[in-house]
Amino acid sequence: MFISFEGVDGSGKSTQARLLAEHLRAEGTETILTREPGGSPGAEEIRRLLVEGGGDRWSPETEILLFTAARRDHLERLIRPALAQGATVITDRFADSTRAYQGAARAELGDLVEKLHALMIGIEPDLTFIIDLDPAEGLSRGAARGEGEDRFESLGLGFQQRLREAYAEIARRDPGRVRVIDGAGTPAEVAARVRAML
Ligand code: TYD
Repeated sequence: MFISFEGVDGSGKSTQARLLAEHLRAEGTETILTREPGGSPGAEEIRRLLVEGGGDRWSPETEILLFTAARRDHLERLIRPALAQGATVITDRFADSTRAYQGAARAELGDLVEKLHALMIGIEPDLTFIIDLDPAEGLSRGAARGEGEDRFESLGLGFQQRLREAYAEIARRDPGRVRVIDGAGTPAEVAARVRAML
């Protein structure tokens, strides 16, 4: 199984990815937990270029290329080998992040994102959980974390609202793969909603 978690910044998806990985391991399923951008040494180097610096450091087109380069490395070095060995892979973000952030919320480059995805990545998760949360709440959670990896948070509330819409549209387009989970409440409450949709 290949599972991805998606959501606006501060939605709690990283916590939920971890909790599901712990749950599956406790059940005896070999599970790899990973994240994007990053997840392999090369992709983690590209990550630093992407998440640090000002909101306008890269054009949307350059960003798409960098995220796709990082994803390709992640796929080659970690995701495909793990799936081939029979492990379940849970990734904190995958291609839907590029569809939502670069394809819809930052610029209307959906066609370019899809073309590059088809050329260079070509696979979708078996299952995707979108953790849906009011972006105002997500941003205040993010600010509380204060990690310095805040290039996308710095684009503001209007941006996060466009993102939420973009994720809702992805869920409408691909109902067989995508499950929308209400992200309000405690981590344990949200985790129970995720497990109920497995
Ligand atoms: P992430 O580490 O998931 O940050 P957070 O935990 O704050 O959500 O991702 C870093 C940032 O990169 C995040 O703001 C979303 C953005 N991003 C894209 O814009 N496009 C992509 O394809 C991916 C994978 C991430």
